[in-house]
Amino acid sequence: MQIVTGAFGFSGKYIARQLLSDGADVLTLTNSTNRENEFGDKIKISPFHFDDIEKLTEVLRDAEVLYNTYWVRFNHTSFQHKTAVENTLKLFEAAKKAGVKRIVHTSITNPGEHSRLEYFRGKAVLERELMDSGMSFAIFRPAVLFGDEDILINNMAWMIRKFPFFGVFGDGKYRLQPIYVEDFAKLMILAGKIRENILMDTVGPETFTYKELIQNISKIILGKERFIFSVSDDLGYMISKIIGWFTGDKMVTREEIKGLKADLLYTDSEPVGTTKLTDWLRAHKDSIGKKYANEMKRRTNREISYLK
Ligand SMILES: NC(=O)c1ccc[n+]([C@@H]2O[C@H](COP(=O)([O-])OP(=O)(O)OC[C@H]3O[C@@H](n4cnc5c(N)ncnc54)[C@H](OP(=O)(O)O)[C@@H]3O)[C@@H](O)[C@H]2O)c1
Repeated sequence: MQIVTGAFGFSGKYIARQLLSDGADVLTLTNSTNRENEFGDKIKISPFHFDDIEKLTEVLRDAEVLYNTYWVRFNHTSFQHKTAVENTLKLFEAAKKAGVKRIVHTSITNPGEHSRLEYFRGKAVLERELMDSGMSFAIFRPAVLFGDEDILINNMAWMIRKFPFFGVFGDGKYRLQPIYVEDFAKLMILAGKIRENILMDTVGPETFTYKELIQNISKIILGKERFIFSVSDDLGYMISKIIGWFTGDKMVTREEIKGLKADLLYTDSEPVGTTKLTDWLRAHKDSIGKKYANEMKRRTNREISYLK
């Protein structure tokens, strides 16, 4: 049995899809057990049972590999990084007790236990705990994932379609290295087949500054560049809050702005993804950014697909 967290979400869906097409027996752990999905009865479903570690252990009993994508993007009244760290530790503990043979875990580029950003701190703690657990592990560190269900790049495209100009935080020279979600899922599954411990950055073949990313998206979807101007972090954040009042979302957080500007979505590692974002954008230029991708809606409505 192969266990995938969040198979009705973003990256977990691509991992589950690939595993099922390889003929594997797959179970997903999710708190969105009734979310619309493409798998029907091909996949087994279980809640996470974070409040009952014995139950969680039974669900994981003798599983071959646990592919873990579980995390929360930002702190909110109804979910917190702190809880995500505690829950992930429970998942590791249950997996160990249950005899799971391997954990393939998703982290982030540049985690740091002393980071001022809780996202990157929490991810670093989890990496260390998994490496110290005695279990066989692969830890992958993507910078940004792109694909139909992605939020960041989709919503940049949405803004580019809506407004004749685009405000960037500061100089816009901080960099990002997006990796295609299908490339990422394939790497996760490859890592599930071996037993050597792995810790690696998983970035795509193109590096963009934030400004270059906006210009590339604009040229591909509109055939022209958008006027880009620099805004302070405070002003940019205020604008995102105003847009958030209309969309009912938290578009970006102050932590995410800091993470971007500190170049934390950039590494000097060799790319491992092969799909270029620019090629993918060309193939999806009529759909990308047509609809706003709403993180809060995904969290509050646990029945509809990420694509709605
Ligand atoms: N997306 C990116 O661009 C990106 C970039 C770098 C690193 N990563 C890392 O990649 C992993 C997967 O990201 P993803 O975008 O593919 O995530 P996702 O599919 O939206 O969510 C992954 C899992 O986390 C759970 N989850 C997400 N937000 C939650 C919340 N607020 N409260 C409770 N549970 C929540 C989901 O629960 P349900 O099953 O109940 O839906 C799902 O099981 C994460 O560890 C993330 O840190 C992502």
